[in-house]
Amino acid sequence: MKKTILVTGGTGYIGSHTCVELIQAGYDVVILDNLYNSSKAVLKRIETITGVLPKFYETDILDAEGLDQVFSENHLDAVIHFAGYKAVGESVSKPLTYYQNNIAGSLNLYETMKRHQVYNLVFSSSATVYGDPASVPIREDFLLGPTTNPYGTSKLYNEQILRDLSKAEPEFSIVLLRYFNPIGAHHSGLIGEVPNGIPNNLLPYIAQVAIGKRDYLSVFGSDYSTPDGTGVRDYIHVVDLALGHIKAIEYAFGRKGIDAVNLGTGHGYSVLQIKDAFQKACGKKIAFKIVDRRPGDIAECYADTTKAKEVLGWSAKYDIDTMCQDSWRFQSQNPDGIND
Ligand code: WQD
Repeated sequence: MKKTILVTGGTGYIGSHTCVELIQAGYDVVILDNLYNSSKAVLKRIETITGVLPKFYETDILDAEGLDQVFSENHLDAVIHFAGYKAVGESVSKPLTYYQNNIAGSLNLYETMKRHQVYNLVFSSSATVYGDPASVPIREDFLLGPTTNPYGTSKLYNEQILRDLSKAEPEFSIVLLRYFNPIGAHHSGLIGEVPNGIPNNLLPYIAQVAIGKRDYLSVFGSDYSTPDGTGVRDYIHVVDLALGHIKAIEYAFGRKGIDAVNLGTGHGYSVLQIKDAFQKACGKKIAFKIVDRRPGDIAECYADTTKAKEVLGWSAKYDIDTMCQDSWRFQSQNPDGIND
């Protein structure tokens, strides 16, 4: 009997890539999304890639009745919870919106799961829960926080809520996946990252410089204690990340309780190294200017990948050149995003 997975935020960047891999791994997928940061057109793209058009509900996690309807109309075996606002800078200027959506909305989801006795959950967390780490690579048993923005804080609070839920309701099986820096796109070029407005993140910004939508890349600081002075991050291919979710769902089905796992490559790349890798992938010069540091940024952040290998039997396999090539293919094939 096929298992059915509810994917909240399933038309989004990481969500859509995870839906493709879930379908191709033999799962039935139900997508719930409020389309705040994505387009319904992604559903047809998922069908083009997989041959399957996922069942879709245009629902907001803040709509408790709408959530209940999804659970009443489908026999769900597990939930992968991506839905949430995720722009670090925006979260600083709109903290109440971020806490309302990312925490109150998530509480609705967890209560609905409990009411419908759906006990398997994979939660989309983030390396931001580590704050500014004492050292790198970062292990899951590192101290958490203090976080440097409401987005990161909402992820940390969700993790705490889920730890408390797991203690009170032992039948739950919860996996917290802490993503590092997801980039790249499905090799078909049909799905990928479509930023809202001016990109906050490095890769989509560089991609827009490459297609001439932006004049140059502003490099936020070159005086960090890193090899070339620019920020170092653990960039991971979004398809590797999606495959990590398949392993996490299988891990959740086989146990009870709660566990946190890093999803990264274990390698750090600087801003200038990424700029150079993207130049190689797109064959164009990426103009850049060194400017002041961005408030809240840290120098270095990359994962210890030991636990992911041990408990999930998963490790990232795509290299930085593939990440940039796949990102460039999507960007050049979809200069105005996914709107068909
Ligand atoms: C990467 C590096 C910047 C833009 C955030 C969230 C994290 C996750 C990924 C959701 C840094 C530098 C960036 C630019 C630059 N999001 N940079 N010029 O801040 O590591 O992580 O996004 O899950 O949770 O915290 O990613 O891509 O914004 O920055 O120089 O125009 O690129 O200073 O060193 P970040 P990023």
